[in-house]
Amino acid sequence: MVVAADEQNGIGYDNKLLCHLPNDLKYFKRVTSGYAVLMGRKTYDSIGRPLPNRTNLILSKTTKEIEGCKVFTSFESVLDFVKQAQLEKLFIIGGDSIYKQALPLCHKVYLTRIHHTFKADAFFVELNPLKFALVSAEHHSADEKNAYPHTFEVYERIIFAS
Ligand SMILES: NC(=O)c1ccc[n+]([C@@H]2O[C@H](COP(=O)([O-])OP(=O)(O)OC[C@H]3O[C@@H](n4cnc5c(N)ncnc54)[C@H](OP(=O)(O)O)[C@@H]3O)[C@@H](O)[C@H]2O)c1
Repeated sequence: MVVAADEQNGIGYDNKLLCHLPNDLKYFKRVTSGYAVLMGRKTYDSIGRPLPNRTNLILSKTTKEIEGCKVFTSFESVLDFVKQAQLEKLFIIGGDSIYKQALPLCHKVYLTRIHHTFKADAFFVELNPLKFALVSAEHHSADEKNAYPHTFEVYERIIFAS
């Protein structure tokens, strides 16, 4: 999963991102390029075009076809495709509804924590510290291009050996 969330886990408002953070957009591109990304139809609408250098998978029950993307009508059919195509990785890139459905199957979370609280109507799921461990954190102060301080956090699912 790749997500940028504020201090209250807010991720969007009025089908838009909470702020423009170029450093995070670069990070998102670096992490996901070359792989498949899965997003909900509303997130696709807010982006407005397929993300380049990535296989774009969209979940929708109302839109049948989107040029340059593969559209799926259920989460199960996405999983079938992932298995059939033997995809090495699938990045879940939102929004709110897709994060909630995919979290139980997710191994790794790239969470950009934006150190600010915005007005939001879409939220990320709270990660259970018994299930996900923080494995790295890279802090960036605000600068002339990035208005808010932020931390690139990476969490991995805790696997208990039996
Ligand atoms: N900060 C971040 O990192 C980040 C990342 C991504 C998005 N966002 C924000 O998140 C917000 C959007 O989130 P959202 O939850 O409102 O929308 P969303 O998850 O992007 O899209 C929801 C839509 O996806 C489709 N869908 C969801 N589950 C499905 C299923 N199991 N089978 C078939 N279709 C399914 C439906 O489309 P149909 O209605 O067409 O059936 C549903 O209306 C926006 O504000 C966006 O900017 C933030």
